[in-house]
Amino acid sequence: MSIVYSKKDRIWKLDTPHSSYLMAAVDEEGFLGHVYYGNKVDDLGIDYLTRAYAHPFVPSENARERCSFMDLFPAEYPGFGLGDYRTPAFCVRTASGSRGCGLFYRSHKIYAGKPGIPGMPATFAGEDEADTLEILCEDPENRLEVTLYYTAFRNMDVITRSVSFRNKGNEMITLEKVMSLSVDLEDPGYETIGLFGSWARERHICRNPLGMGSYRIGSFRGESSHQEHPFLALCTKGADSDHGQVYGFHFLYSGNFVAEAHRSQFESVRVTMGISPEGFSWGLMPGETFSLPEAAMVYSSEGIGGMSRTFHRLYRKHLIRSPYRDTPRPVLINNWEATYFDFNTEKLIDIAREAAASGIEMLVMDDGWFGARSYDDKALGDWIANEEKLPGGLPVLSERIHELGLKFGIWMEPEMISPDSDLYRAHPDWAIAIPGRTPAMSRCQYVLDITRREVLEYVYGCVRNVLSSTRIEYLKWDMNRQLTDVFSLGLTAEHQGEFYHRYVLAVYELQERLVTDFPDLLLENCSGGGARFDPGMLYYSPQIWCSDDTDAIERLSIQEGTAMVYPLSCMGAHVSDCPNHAVGRNTPFQTRGHVALAGTFGYELDITRIPQEDRRRIPDQIALYHSFGDLIRRGDYYRVANYSENGLYDCWAVIAEDKSEALVTYVQVLGQPNYKARLLILKGLDPDGIYEISATSEEDHFEPVMVRSGGRKEPEALRLSGRTLMNAGILADRMWGDFRSKLYHLKRVEL
Ligand code: GLA
Repeated sequence: MSIVYSKKDRIWKLDTPHSSYLMAAVDEEGFLGHVYYGNKVDDLGIDYLTRAYAHPFVPSENARERCSFMDLFPAEYPGFGLGDYRTPAFCVRTASGSRGCGLFYRSHKIYAGKPGIPGMPATFAGEDEADTLEILCEDPENRLEVTLYYTAFRNMDVITRSVSFRNKGNEMITLEKVMSLSVDLEDPGYETIGLFGSWARERHICRNPLGMGSYRIGSFRGESSHQEHPFLALCTKGADSDHGQVYGFHFLYSGNFVAEAHRSQFESVRVTMGISPEGFSWGLMPGETFSLPEAAMVYSSEGIGGMSRTFHRLYRKHLIRSPYRDTPRPVLINNWEATYFDFNTEKLIDIAREAAASGIEMLVMDDGWFGARSYDDKALGDWIANEEKLPGGLPVLSERIHELGLKFGIWMEPEMISPDSDLYRAHPDWAIAIPGRTPAMSRCQYVLDITRREVLEYVYGCVRNVLSSTRIEYLKWDMNRQLTDVFSLGLTAEHQGEFYHRYVLAVYELQERLVTDFPDLLLENCSGGGARFDPGMLYYSPQIWCSDDTDAIERLSIQEGTAMVYPLSCMGAHVSDCPNHAVGRNTPFQTRGHVALAGTFGYELDITRIPQEDRRRIPDQIALYHSFGDLIRRGDYYRVANYSENGLYDCWAVIAEDKSEALVTYVQVLGQPNYKARLLILKGLDPDGIYEISATSEEDHFEPVMVRSGGRKEPEALRLSGRTLMNAGILADRMWGDFRSKLYHLKRVEL
């Protein structure tokens, strides 16, 4: 059992392999306080840490200074308005209009395993993998019961958290702010790490020193967003990929969120993370329970890389449920950048024929196949094939694609409605709008109010009809605009504040039904590129489209930021045509392939029109994907060099868990004159293992790396120990030109 309770000291201690998390109940009233989070500590005498809050400071002995106590005490789940002036974890309003709230410990239970959260994504773990602590607290005056859930994983440094609220009174209580996580840490001078971006520039890493006051990120866009990501890390000054202490906090949720680090007068930092309170309220009726989404905390004393690898393992093994999680995904070709809306059956068949001849395994038909959809300003909601483009509809197309030996995939944007659509003409009131106000369009479309049961059922019916109409092996579920003008005709005035969260719950319900009814479907979530790339969606789809920017060089920063928390197996990445559609850059086909290999791998181009020499390379690239797909999906990810920092080159490695094999990707972004070779100092290898090294040639073929002697190349492959590779490094020769790349394959050999 990784969780113990000391009855004598009223201390809970949660242990993971390398970290400990401690809480205590203090004083007669049972204030629940945070005690410690960091490197693993021993049980012996640990109660000394709680003495800072004990005699003579506690309210039972010093009632005249209750406020001082409240404002210093590191409350585990702080309320509002009763003397703790730091960021609250929760705020409520009672029927009388009062807002003061605070919790006291009542009871707890500890058990093996991990519960789910009703209607929401959550990590899962068996009884031999994790232990859970439930602490029941009460706000007696408000007749509110609050349960804090903690799950400590036995084999990784992860503690997940969630909270539920129960109204035990006779009148409605309005929840105004409810965080899934709150933790007070002593502050040695932390820095924050976050992931920021924009459309086509998602999840770029951003690091700042943490000053006094609050550092706050969030989204009120109705989705986790391109702009700010529901991830916040605190790290010690100077922490890098391999060194320093890092606390990573990630919210498993796909809607509005806030994450805040509040540095207080006494040099402690309170980190909170949860549903954004802006625009949120929840009317909790007597007897009702409200469950919050999950937040995951990862502690690493091995720098940012250690944190990343733990998140990767957590999501690979305890979040992604799809049967595709551990199996090779079909190499797909998507027609979006090839044709946009301008295609028909014959064009798709031409692409599919060429694709099949090159070894591609699935054709995905993107936007533009339904209703009168000739451009982005019409037909969303009319999910019936356009027979002018696709005579005979989906069954005929699907059959022809399958006859060519390919699987068939399709794009849908089920949550949306175009004002110019049959659906809108029939049900204008189904679009989200505030009565009396013209709703704002975005990409010329509105969002359907799926919080209403009849709308949700219609939407699900459309998806089900499409998928049942013929053989479809893959669905790309898109969401191309963010929410505005939020109001539901299905909610009374006092419940309107529930809209944003109810919207996310409706998305989860739709996707849960989808994966239940179509268990073999490969689902890829997407949102105008990567605006709903979050752990919530990963619970439903094993992969998410990373960004509409498919340029290999732009992707270096996007994929580096994304891989800070997400395993490579879930990052949608395709080889596209040049000049690139987002930035107009020309890069070698080989580099595009190598960068896309650090993700799900596929193509997004008109294979019938790209240069012959690029087309010739596709079978070799696919062979690479098949040789290294398992390693990339399952291996541990190490950052060797960051283009985002050095401006010249990028390098990452994926290393098998048993260290028997590694794939190192090196991208020389800019060529430089007058240097010979660069040393890539590797990490994560078996120091005593002997590795044989081969590298890709110009043609994507692997060749042994030659030992140089006196300017002559000897024909034997280079063998080096892991220790040498991790200290002296690989010698990467200069390549001629910009945007060049090379793969190095290291295989441990028996001597
Ligand atoms: C979004 C997606 C693209 C493509 C278009 C279609 O932008 O990210 O990949 O599917 O929608 O409209």
